[in-house]
Amino acid sequence: MSTALVTGAAGVLCSALVEALLEEGHRVALLGRTESKLVELQKALAAKGLTETLVVAADVLDRSSLEAARAKIEASFGPVDILVNGAGGNSPKATAQAETYTAETAKEKSFFGVDLQAYGEVFDLNLKGTLLPCQVFGDGMAERRRGTIVNLSSMSADRPLTKVIAYSNAKAAVDSLTQWLAVHLAPRGIRVNAIAPGFFLTEQNRFLLTTTEGGLTPRGDKILRNTPFSRFGEAKELKTALKFLVHPDSSFVNGVILPVDGGFSAFAGV
Ligand SMILES: NC(=O)c1ccc[n+]([C@@H]2O[C@H](COP(=O)([O-])OP(=O)(O)OC[C@H]3O[C@@H](n4cnc5c(N)ncnc54)[C@H](OP(=O)(O)O)[C@@H]3O)[C@@H](O)[C@H]2O)c1
Repeated sequence: MSTALVTGAAGVLCSALVEALLEEGHRVALLGRTESKLVELQKALAAKGLTETLVVAADVLDRSSLEAARAKIEASFGPVDILVNGAGGNSPKATAQAETYTAETAKEKSFFGVDLQAYGEVFDLNLKGTLLPCQVFGDGMAERRRGTIVNLSSMSADRPLTKVIAYSNAKAAVDSLTQWLAVHLAPRGIRVNAIAPGFFLTEQNRFLLTTTEGGLTPRGDKILRNTPFSRFGEAKELKTALKFLVHPDSSFVNGVILPVDGGFSAFAGV
């Protein structure tokens, strides 16, 4: 049994990842900024008989808050051996409303209207919000020569999706960080990998993919036409990918970005 930490634990995808770690017999620290959401998750897990959890309210963008989290986790569960960097997401303000810039496109709906502050917030949450926990928790792993890190990438990392500029740029940087750190920490036996989820309906993308009436937007429809399984993923379909990446028998798997996407990244669209 190891101690795991999941940032953004109360998230739609991340709560399934928490469940996966508990099913494998790990103790899991649940980290996010809103304590009440974490307590709610803790209760829901306990109702399923999954009780080895610890609620830790902290901000992934604040080093001192992460250091306080580390002290709390170590006091109750011991040092973190598995770090899952799940906190991340997009914001409508950091999104260009137009896919491409044609003669008819209003400038404010194009790249030229993207709000730089909103861009920075999304970029920081996804990149620095992954990098900082790697520093705060990876340090101990490297010292102990024991531990593994799993970051959350996206289909937007490899080939950027239209509109979501800040998110795409940041997730590409998360892939780069994953590979960079996999090499850097290899002499210490620390593996660093990422999961790249395909399209799962969640709060961060619902406004882009579905209409208020519950139908598909043209973008949602386009995504399903480019997903060979012709459906959105379900959060529980990420669980085995995480179990695989953190398993001690995956000891030679390092620096990979594992897509879980119903074939989206394999399909050329023709
Ligand atoms: N949903 C998808 O289809 C999809 C696809 C590809 C990749 N992903 C990626 O997968 C990861 C998990 O997604 P998800 O759907 O579980 O996310 P989610 O439902 O949007 O939840 C994100 C969680 O992160 C927490 N969070 C946000 N900012 C934080 C901060 N500064 N410090 C600590 N916690 C913070 C939020 O809680 P608080 O606000 O309380 O802090 C929230 O519980 C994200 O990195 C996302 O980008 C998602």
